[in-house]
Amino acid sequence: MTSPLNVLLLGSGGREHAIAWKVAQSPLLAQLWIAPGNAGTADLGENVPEVPATDIEAVAALAKRVRADLVIVGPDDPLALGVVDRLTVEGIRCFGPTRGAAELEWSKSFAKDVMRQAGIATAEARAFDSVTEAHSYLRQLEDAGAAAPVVKANGLALGKGVVVAASFEEARAALETTMVSRAFGDAGSRVLIEERMAGPETSAHAFTDGVTVRHMPFSCDHKPVFDGDRGPNTGGMGVFSPPGWLAEADARAIERDVTERTVRAMFEAGRPYRGVLYPGMMLTADGPRVVEYNCRFGDPEAQALLPRLESDLLEICWAVATNTLDQVEVRWSARATVCVVMASGGYPGSYSTGARIEGLSDVDADVPVFFAGVAPDAEGQLVTSGGRVLSVTASGATIAEAQARAYENVGRIHFEGAHYRTDIGARGVAAEAAVGAPR
Ligand code: AMP
Ligand code: GLY
Repeated sequence: MTSPLNVLLLGSGGREHAIAWKVAQSPLLAQLWIAPGNAGTADLGENVPEVPATDIEAVAALAKRVRADLVIVGPDDPLALGVVDRLTVEGIRCFGPTRGAAELEWSKSFAKDVMRQAGIATAEARAFDSVTEAHSYLRQLEDAGAAAPVVKANGLALGKGVVVAASFEEARAALETTMVSRAFGDAGSRVLIEERMAGPETSAHAFTDGVTVRHMPFSCDHKPVFDGDRGPNTGGMGVFSPPGWLAEADARAIERDVTERTVRAMFEAGRPYRGVLYPGMMLTADGPRVVEYNCRFGDPEAQALLPRLESDLLEICWAVATNTLDQVEVRWSARATVCVVMASGGYPGSYSTGARIEGLSDVDADVPVFFAGVAPDAEGQLVTSGGRVLSVTASGATIAEAQARAYENVGRIHFEGAHYRTDIGARGVAAEAAVGAPR
């Protein structure tokens, strides 16, 4: 298909370690650079720690210097800053949407407009640029006897800009924090006041080149920091895939009526979407509804999905970037995966770093450990350097088997203050017990 490719991967989290791990297995790879990278990607390619993924000019200069054939964008913020548009000017192929296509993630009001026009099911919402008008809408809802709504910063807020208010009092406080105190900066200059939905959540992921769509298996993240979904939301504490509780009809409906319809709508709007499209879904009593769009792999969804990918990730990324996804087969293992995140105690609040990480060499050879907040200390020993430290992904014939193996291996890794949830995959195990087999 093509001569070996020089690849530059942007990002530094567990997701990027998983992407690098999979790309490094490709026979199509010439050389891999990761900017800025982490201690895990350092073993798979050449890290460029002095280039942050959000410094678009530095990224463009680096891509030219290393003669990158393809740039794979891991996180959302460089997409919103237009890294793909900038690299395209240089004639460099990219895996990831343009700024215009990524607006699905960086502007929730834009996403709502797209969904409204395309007839994609989502919660009712209204956008406000004026705090006074937002307050009077809240009063209107309260007077009408409506349930307390969800208040969302319109822009990117590291997953923290959403308040599922338990009362109107809380909704009003969220408006103040977001629009007046600007807790999320400019992301909160506009807010969405959204109808509250209820139901289990699942992450839909797909590869697309703007026309062809290749769906990935479904997966389920666990956002709250403590067991039983208690405590504050985090970036994600663990994932299992596939969710046996998701009905076949709902899964197909999401693929057809959400993901494929969105890709078509973006193409027709003159913003062809290339990369990973990840609609976050809620299975409500009225059917599946979109909670939000993400324009990249989920973290830690990538760490649970990529070990299930049997095809060549680099071949897929290249096909996406060159509009030839229709010519590539994307195969997935039927084996289930469970990914457990180990975090620093205190995360997502304040936490300390610098704790020695022990026991990594005791982990089973077929259980990948993906690093996020891990760095070498002065003596070259690995120590904690972030909130989410690492993740452990095990596979099995069932979720129950994958879960048991994941926790067995997590138990061999030690660092001071380590925190992880002990119930990742429990919903999947319960569904298996009810149905008898994974799906
Ligand atoms: P988001 O950042 O938009 O994914 O929101 C974070 C989390 O807030 C979601 O995973 C949901 O659990 C919750 N959430 C967001 N929107 C709604 C909604 N309209 N109703 C109920 N929960 C929501
Ligand atoms: N795991 C949720 C996200 O990446 O947005």
